[in-house]
Amino acid sequence: QNMHVQIVKDQAAGGKAGFQIFQQALTAGAKVLGLATGSTPISIYQQLVASDLDFSQLTSVNLDEYVGLGPDHPQSYRYFMQQHLFNAKPFAHSYVPDGLNADAAAETKRYDDIIAANPIDLQLLGLGRNGHVGFNEPGTDEHSTTHKVALTQSTIDANARFFDNEDEVPRYAYSMGIGSILQAKEILIVAYGEAKAAAVAAMLQGPVTPDVPASFLQTHPNVHVILDEAAASQL
Ligand code: GLP
Repeated sequence: QNMHVQIVKDQAAGGKAGFQIFQQALTAGAKVLGLATGSTPISIYQQLVASDLDFSQLTSVNLDEYVGLGPDHPQSYRYFMQQHLFNAKPFAHSYVPDGLNADAAAETKRYDDIIAANPIDLQLLGLGRNGHVGFNEPGTDEHSTTHKVALTQSTIDANARFFDNEDEVPRYAYSMGIGSILQAKEILIVAYGEAKAAAVAAMLQGPVTPDVPASFLQTHPNVHVILDEAAASQL
């Protein structure tokens, strides 16, 4: 099995387990970290912030960003990363797609060039309720590179809690593709809670299919999976 599954008690324990995987990657010489947003990675970032790890010589590359939100918007992913990690632990370079670049062709090309120049050693991922990774919604091709995505209603609903009302949730995002993610040398995907249980089962035990973008991780040689018991409940 290429996917090493670890089941933990809760998100705090998941933060510690995830931290250890980061620490091992850094000890092994990782120079580029692929980072993710959402509630899932927060406990890992807390551990990284509390640690004595130094990222000042490293590069980070984030998965995705909402189209239309700039770095000062509290719901932008750049803002999230500043708050949860970068302010406390600056990197030499931290890349996040530019949500304010309205030229999708130019922005996705720019970001693919960044990834090509900074091959990702360890990519952290959360899991969408519908099996998405980054913002690669069901139907995304496994060879996809950075692209502009129309968010599904499931994702808009899931993210509406962070906005004053659903109308304010952006409808589009820039996201690394499945192909971009699969090029990382090592991947860590984390999921907590009952709402993720079906997606977790489909990712690990279902067919490899664009209907469940996370199922493409079955084709990657080195994936760590951290789950709590609720997320693992349909395995
Ligand atoms: C968003 C992000 C994903 C994230 C997912 C799950 O759609 N683009 O990267 O994995 O939400 O978020 P959460 O961890 O809050 O459940």
